[in-house]
Amino acid sequence: MAKAAKSQFVCQSCGAVASRWAGKCAGCGEWNTLVEEQSGALAPGSGLSSTSKGRVIQLESLKGETRDTPRIHTGVEELDRVTGGGFVPGSALLIGGEPGIGKSTLLLQVAAAIANKGGRAVYFSGEEAVAQVRLRAERLDLAECPVELAAETNLANILATLSDGKPADLIIIDSIQTLWADALEAAPGTVSQVRAATQSLIRYAKHTGSALILVGHVTKEGSIAGPKVIEHMVDTVLYFEGERGHAFRILRTVKNRFGPTNEIGVFEMATKGLREVKNPSELFLGDRDVDAPGAAVFAGMEGTRPLLVEIQALVAPSPLGNPRRAVIGWDTNRLSMLLAVLDARCGVSLAQCDVYLNVAGGMKINEPSADLAAAAALLSSFSGVPLPTDRVFFGEISLSGAIRASSHMPTRLKEAEKLGFASAVIPAQGEVDKKAGKLKLDRLGHLKLLAEAFSPCK
Ligand code: TYD
Ligand code: MG
Repeated sequence: MAKAAKSQFVCQSCGAVASRWAGKCAGCGEWNTLVEEQSGALAPGSGLSSTSKGRVIQLESLKGETRDTPRIHTGVEELDRVTGGGFVPGSALLIGGEPGIGKSTLLLQVAAAIANKGGRAVYFSGEEAVAQVRLRAERLDLAECPVELAAETNLANILATLSDGKPADLIIIDSIQTLWADALEAAPGTVSQVRAATQSLIRYAKHTGSALILVGHVTKEGSIAGPKVIEHMVDTVLYFEGERGHAFRILRTVKNRFGPTNEIGVFEMATKGLREVKNPSELFLGDRDVDAPGAAVFAGMEGTRPLLVEIQALVAPSPLGNPRRAVIGWDTNRLSMLLAVLDARCGVSLAQCDVYLNVAGGMKINEPSADLAAAAALLSSFSGVPLPTDRVFFGEISLSGAIRASSHMPTRLKEAEKLGFASAVIPAQGEVDKKAGKLKLDRLGHLKLLAEAFSPCK
């Protein structure tokens, strides 16, 4: 049959194409990801070609006047930090995050900031109606901003609309999964649709020098839905993260062709939109439980910025034959390693205990330098001895129990001192600024020394 000849099965996870359906994708090994799609490239008329038959739709303003000289400074300092100084004209940026985390809010604020400066910012909402976006703009006190707005999901219409008039400085597509190119028969959100739409939009952005911002849904595993291909196609990938119960949000650079990665921007979701947090350490240390055993402050780094967070541990006797190990915000394997090092090198065995480790405030840490703070929290909880609340820790622990030097040691110490900490337990090795002030430094070469500092363990 002709239809069967045109069908192909595309893995929704990695984008691999198969001619027959299978339960498991041969490309990435994921189960149940193959979906039948119609093959075929974008036909003329769906994209940028001059024969485009897209209908020009009416762009609506949030009210008021627009435009002047193009400038791609976002006006949001935290966003400028993660992008490496603002959006690059002609580039594409993908921002992923869970539903309700605040992607649309952030982008509306950015669009408004750019429009306020005289740039042309066009916001295509595929998920919400114009009225809903207007309501949000009102809530954010941005209704007067000259953002151009449309609720549209048809790729050809979007491209035709963009080509009509002065090139936009900022194009926001919320979200890429809602777009559809009518030349493809696959449903919106499928790999071929998302890929085709992204391709056409990137081509348009490169052609006109607009900055393109795509919103991407994330899967329940936390990666951007659709194939990795899209992350490869764009220049910058940001993730917007946060815990539902907490007001703060973290914007993290995962990929950046024009700037640093691993930078974070910190925001707080308030009643009137996202507020920038200039000093995140204060936020993460905000409500500490004084005098409770099992809490240690880690002086960490996120990109170029120091960040202090509290690491909490609970070590309790376990009734189970196979005690529980639960970690939030840190790496489970790292905890296992730390417990093994404590046991084998320091003679502190937690084998009969349940161990819970939590990074306060919902922050996620992936620096090895957090080892020492985690070890201090574990030892404190195990021995029931609280740590001084004005002490910070950092240092990577090797399998031998040796404490290794960390990067940016002076910056970490400076941040701790700025926030009123009095002492720091840090690696014996590594440069520190001698005149770095009043912080009392305790330099340890081996984890054993830390374990011995606690009173005889239970
Ligand atoms: P939204 O930007 O719609 O999230 P996303 O686009 O990532 O799905 O954010 C919606 C959430 O943010 C919603 O739960 C309400 C909350 N919110 C505030 O708390 N304050 C505000 O000013 C706004 C606009 C939203
Ligand atoms: Mg949204």
